[in-house]
Amino acid sequence: METAEPVAPDMTEDIDEILVTGEEIRTRLAELGKLLDADYAGESPLLVGVLKGAFMLMSDLVRHMHTPVSVDFMACSSYGSATRTSGVVRILKDLDTDIEGRHVLLVEDIVDSGLTLDYLMKNLRARRPASLEVLALLTKPAARRVEVPIRYRGFEVPDVFVVGYGLDYAERYRNLPFVGTLKPEVYQG
Ligand code: PRP
Repeated sequence: METAEPVAPDMTEDIDEILVTGEEIRTRLAELGKLLDADYAGESPLLVGVLKGAFMLMSDLVRHMHTPVSVDFMACSSYGSATRTSGVVRILKDLDTDIEGRHVLLVEDIVDSGLTLDYLMKNLRARRPASLEVLALLTKPAARRVEVPIRYRGFEVPDVFVVGYGLDYAERYRNLPFVGTLKPEVYQG
């Protein structure tokens, strides 16, 4: 059918390679959900999602858990719209919850240089939670600039720029149901 509106090209045309499929993510989140249920049995942990990237992970992860959880979110910025970290971390939205004495699980979509997580861990530890652990769907060990303790991890990815399942390039591609790389021409203009 002809239309007067310009038709947006399918986002998947910009994808070079799929690194983690939606099916692999679902399977791993089911495993992690079971593990979290066992580790937090009898507790009411607070899951803290780091926006924006972790929005999809948080919503899928909690559906794999039977433990009664609370959720809260923080937003911080380290990238701007470039593809490499600037090393500068800014809190754009703080927690609504007082975490003193709470069991806190920080939920990150990706740990790249580790700078964001390192900053957040120090910041949250100062609020004296009963415990503070980290779950990251993706980790890029080759890009690490500071060592960070990740207790629960989904997948290791190589040191390449990835999008999808919450991760963006210039705010696009977050709603892809898988994690993949972009064709170089997409970010080289
Ligand atoms: C991403 C990601 C982590 C951080 C990881 O967020 O969600 O928070 O970068 O990078 P690092 O380990 O090098 O610090 P980003 O700043 O892109 O914000 P967004 O989630 O809102 O897209």
